[in-house]
Amino acid sequence: MKILVIGSGGREHALVWKLRQSPRVTEIFCAPGNGGISQIAECVPLKISDHDALVKFVEERGIGLTVVGPDDALAAGIVDRFESVDLRIFGPTQGAALLESSKVFAKEFMLRHGIPTAASGQFSNADEARAFAAKMSAPIVVKASGLALGKGVIIAETHAEADAAIREIMEERKFGDAGSEVVIEEFLTGEECSIHALVDGHSYLLFPSAQDHKRALDGDRGLNTGGMGTFSPASKVLPPALEARVRTEVLDRFIAGIKADGLDYRGMLFPGLMITRDGIKVLEFNCRFGDPETQVLLTRLESDLLDLLEATIDQCLEKTTATWRHESAVCVILVSGGYPGSYAGGKKITGLEKSDATIFHAGTRRDGGDFLTAGGRVLGVTGLAPTLAEAKTRAYAAAAGIHFEGMQFRSDIAAKGL
Ligand code: AMP
Ligand code: GLY
Repeated sequence: MKILVIGSGGREHALVWKLRQSPRVTEIFCAPGNGGISQIAECVPLKISDHDALVKFVEERGIGLTVVGPDDALAAGIVDRFESVDLRIFGPTQGAALLESSKVFAKEFMLRHGIPTAASGQFSNADEARAFAAKMSAPIVVKASGLALGKGVIIAETHAEADAAIREIMEERKFGDAGSEVVIEEFLTGEECSIHALVDGHSYLLFPSAQDHKRALDGDRGLNTGGMGTFSPASKVLPPALEARVRTEVLDRFIAGIKADGLDYRGMLFPGLMITRDGIKVLEFNCRFGDPETQVLLTRLESDLLDLLEATIDQCLEKTTATWRHESAVCVILVSGGYPGSYAGGKKITGLEKSDATIFHAGTRRDGGDFLTAGGRVLGVTGLAPTLAEAKTRAYAAAAGIHFEGMQFRSDIAAKGL
């Protein structure tokens, strides 16, 4: 079968790498892809937003399955467009992907179906939002409802900061239309955990846990980023007893909810959780594979990913199992100097060939025989080993052998898991 993967980051490199191992895959394409992906797939320079061009390409090449990486493609309705012309595609429909693209929709879904989440109010009127925030105790969490490149969540330490956040999001439209509605939420403390489960509309297949590191600097300081590193399993934050509660309190209720609401959800579900002293709370739903989480999860997956994706589309997950390596995986992200602020691209990368870790490219391009940086997150370096400590050592040893001007990374990825 010929496959097309849509997207251009480390997640998509990992998806292409894993799908390519399937004996049923004959040819693999990636739109638009990146420098690293071009080593193992044919990259096609099509825009993710150009659904007509993507449909045409898939029809011309006889591609049997398209796999969607990023959230904005799902929110724009790419799955509905493909299905309207009977093309097979992996991901939820636009209506179901509202669970990620509208935080108001997701909150209402969670409340309706008894999924534990932070106490909150949802508003399309700034005065009402301010009045609600005034009655809460600080810190107060203010969230733009729509997609805002991961930047739409503001933790306000004071009431004045909450008022400013409401003004910037709703009145000054700092994130555009994503700010036409806001969710104002109680601040939760605890450990975060990333859950991934394939969902076919009737049942689900739970992946091992992972933990992300969103802040730019060691010790969870600095600005929020797309993710500076991750590890799996995250057994310390999600021991078996809590995982059982994720099944009953989050996933079982999610399945009952999509059925009751008539949502066509067939795809990956990635709830971001906060494990608090009062139990599990869902911070958000993502309707896609996480990045960088996918890099550690697919490194640990033994089963054929194509089989799992097809079982999801064909609604037979109930009869499907997945097998996982018992090893732990740690992924360290190497970023451009200045990220998540502004940074320069075009820096030559050296030391890639010597590595004994698995390297996925996030922001690179090819220049003859060289790789140049072309993004904030540049590379993900994943070590796999019998213990988390050894996997961490392996990832950092590989990272130490790689160089580009201005390269930065966190030195404490997975420390919390040890
Ligand atoms: P979200 O996009 O909703 O997952 O929020 C992004 C990040 O903001 C999360 O990964 C958390 O670190 C933080 N966050 C979101 N909601 C809350 C909350 N209610 N309490 C504390 N931190 C939060
Ligand atoms: N790792 C967080 C995300 O993919 O949204």
